[in-house]
Amino acid sequence: MIVTVLLQLLWGLGVRSEPPFNNPPGVDIWCGKAYRASDPSFDPGGLIFPPEERNKLPKLELVIYPRYNLYLSSDKTGSFILSTVVSTLRGQNFKNETWYPERPQTKAPFTELRLIIYDDAIEHNRTKIVDTWIPVNATDIEVPFSLSGMEPSQERPSRFVVYANSPDAIQTYYSAVSVNILPERNDTGSVSRVDALYGGLSVKSSLTKNTWKDVFPYSFYTSWDWISSTLTNTSSPKTLSTFRAQGYNLIHPVPPGGTDPFNHTLLSQFLTLCDELELYVMYDMRHTYQNTSSITAQLSLLTHHPSLLLYYTADEPDGWCDPLNATQLSYKHIHSIDPYHPVSLVLNCANFYFEAYTKGADIILEDTYPIAVNTSFSTVYHTPCNATYGDCGCDNCHVNDAAYAPVYTHNAFLDIIDRTENLYAYQGWQASRSVPKPVWGVPQAFWDEGSFWDRWPSAAEEAVMGVLRLNHGAKGIVAWIYPTSAEVERVTASLATVVASGDVTRFLLGAKRIGGLRVVGGDGLLDGSAWERGGEMLVSLVYLGYGDVDGRVEVSLPKGVQGEVETLWGEGGWTVDDDEKALVKVGIKALEIGIFKLKVQT
Ligand SMILES: *[C@@H]1O[C@H](CO)[C@@H](O)[C@H](O)[C@H]1NC(C)=O
Ligand SMILES: *[C@@H]1O[C@H](CO)[C@@H](O)[C@H](O)[C@H]1NC(C)=O
Ligand SMILES: *[C@@H]1O[C@H](CO)[C@@H](O)[C@H](O)[C@H]1NC(C)=O
Ligand SMILES: *[C@@H]1O[C@H](CO)[C@@H](O)[C@H](O)[C@H]1NC(C)=O
Ligand SMILES: *[C@@H]1O[C@H](CO)[C@@H](O)[C@H](O)[C@H]1NC(C)=O
Ligand SMILES: *[C@@H]1O[C@H](CO)[C@@H](O)[C@H](O)[C@H]1NC(C)=O
Ligand SMILES: *[C@@H]1O[C@H](CO)[C@@H](O)[C@H](O)[C@H]1NC(C)=O
Ligand SMILES: *[C@@H]1O[C@H](CO)[C@@H](O)[C@H](O)[C@H]1NC(C)=O
Ligand SMILES: *[C@@H]1O[C@H](CO)[C@@H](O)[C@H](O)[C@H]1NC(C)=O
Ligand SMILES: *[C@@H]1O[C@H](CO)[C@@H](O)[C@H](O)[C@H]1NC(C)=O
Repeated sequence: MIVTVLLQLLWGLGVRSEPPFNNPPGVDIWCGKAYRASDPSFDPGGLIFPPEERNKLPKLELVIYPRYNLYLSSDKTGSFILSTVVSTLRGQNFKNETWYPERPQTKAPFTELRLIIYDDAIEHNRTKIVDTWIPVNATDIEVPFSLSGMEPSQERPSRFVVYANSPDAIQTYYSAVSVNILPERNDTGSVSRVDALYGGLSVKSSLTKNTWKDVFPYSFYTSWDWISSTLTNTSSPKTLSTFRAQGYNLIHPVPPGGTDPFNHTLLSQFLTLCDELELYVMYDMRHTYQNTSSITAQLSLLTHHPSLLLYYTADEPDGWCDPLNATQLSYKHIHSIDPYHPVSLVLNCANFYFEAYTKGADIILEDTYPIAVNTSFSTVYHTPCNATYGDCGCDNCHVNDAAYAPVYTHNAFLDIIDRTENLYAYQGWQASRSVPKPVWGVPQAFWDEGSFWDRWPSAAEEAVMGVLRLNHGAKGIVAWIYPTSAEVERVTASLATVVASGDVTRFLLGAKRIGGLRVVGGDGLLDGSAWERGGEMLVSLVYLGYGDVDGRVEVSLPKGVQGEVETLWGEGGWTVDDDEKALVKVGIKALEIGIFKLKVQT
């Protein structure tokens, strides 16, 4: 009794009491929730919330991180990415006034900061490496610095202290930042790094002629049985060469079980072939990531292969409710052996211990499967699904659930948009700032009879699930799972050929995304994003409706354009409006997609 009353009081006051992480004994859970009809629901906890306003005073939050998670001794310059956002939520107090030394009588608005960064390598004798001015209340400020003379080290990052002062030096904000400057590799292995500014992955090896190359992966998790059969069966019509030739630029072998998951002979053949094909490997340790000796043994077989792009540790750790420190312990172990490749993992839950699990990742994947699924009643476990109960295969998804909100019936792909954007938003909600981590998408490309899903996705749905994710910031696409249906294979191969090409990748990984383009017409279901670089604009449009629409549709562009619309993928028929600031078309087909290139007005 007392406990209940107390809890009600606490909840009533808005205090978030967290129930213990572990489930009641004997209760099977997914995303922390009981899912068997024989067990009652309980609050799983683990939610991340947006920061709360403690007072109304303006604050400036100085955030700084290196643009790349690593530099090599051969890199001449590096850069820092800073933000100086003024809000009432986070940071140190900010007053919008200052005095300039040359005009000491006149109060001026505080609009710029003097940024000074010192190399902290030698105690009591700091070297100034940056002295410049940056704007107040800005994001993505890039400040270069010279790497010459800095000592590369695998063990210790270089440390820098950061001061940002008002012109009168009365208001001071400070921070610290570490930069990994690694020795050049002395073997044939690749180096791969994450760009915190545009979210891309770039890789350097003999395969790229030892220059940094941006890679936008468009591919699949791939059955190891299938991979082995292509290696051992000489009459197999499909091979890794045909897979690569279809346009897929990455392969993610799904390990069979066991602490030594892959047959060494076949793995070595596989990796050698990937090296020859420049087919990048995303190496999955789902069954072994918590076993450090197994990791050590596996890495020793991999690191000298130039096709190794990145690691993948936990597969849905939040779903399984793996120990909260597991992904981070694994991450530290991997990086102690191999600091040259990033680590990724996939989250399955909508919002369950995000901060703990993603501590162990440089790249976060989401696997939201909204096609032909019942998100309010579990067809497998025969229970309702809601925020505290049940497993419907797509955690806290609401596709076609009019009772939850009619908008999910109108827009059957809203769960994908929600999840992709939330995984970015949660990063900003964390108590402690981390370097922004790219989000990659795992489109649904499978069908298992008797599972939560009733059928295969169609080719049109598959394309929408991929391109919609690009529109909302995904920096890689790795669908589950190859081999897939013939029509899904055809459409993904065609998309991979275009999206992973240098012509499109240079926009997706080399420019800021301008999302949510303003659309008139199209029943509110046309989703558009644009990227501008070097006098050109990439525009990606996805129509999310299952029926054709008539009438004129107009998409406003962020800048004036000129000349022809070059269709890179999908339905053409769009033209530039007379005022040269919009794309227009009359009539759109169900699930229509268009990826275009335009010239920006000079
Ligand atoms: C500070 O004041 C100036 C002048 O009024 C204004 O333009 C600027 O937006 C203000 N900055 C902030 C962060 O409030
Ligand atoms: C401090 O460092 C600078 C250059 O890095 C060097 O020229 C100078 O001699 C050092 N001073 C002391 C006291 O060590
Ligand atoms: C800071 O910039 C943001 C985004 O540009 C803007 O919405 C906000 O009003 C600005 N804040 C202040 C205090 O000026
Ligand atoms: C190559 O690099 C590794 C680790 O970075 C180091 O342990 C090893 O001694 C180096 N080998 C040579 C021949 O330089
Ligand atoms: C090898 O592949 C061919 C063509 O797909 C197939 O007919 C045959 O059964 C396979 N052989 C084995 C041993 O799996
Ligand atoms: C590994 O695969 C090869 C080729 O299929 C096979 O000959 C060998 O027996 C396998 N090794 C083990 C340990 O299973
Ligand atoms: C961890 O992996 C090693 C192989 O590297 C294996 O011998 C050991 O049994 C594994 N430990 C567990 C707990 O699975
Ligand atoms: C990780 O967490 C588990 C419990 O969840 C605990 O037993 C273990 O000591 C922790 N390990 C480390 C290294 O913190
Ligand atoms: C989900 O299943 C419930 C119970 O069978 C049913 O009432 C509901 O209409 C189904 N929803 C969808 C979207 O299929
Ligand atoms: C979820 O469903 C269960 C079972 O119907 C119910 O007991 C619980 O109150 C529901 N939770 C929420 C948050 O609606």
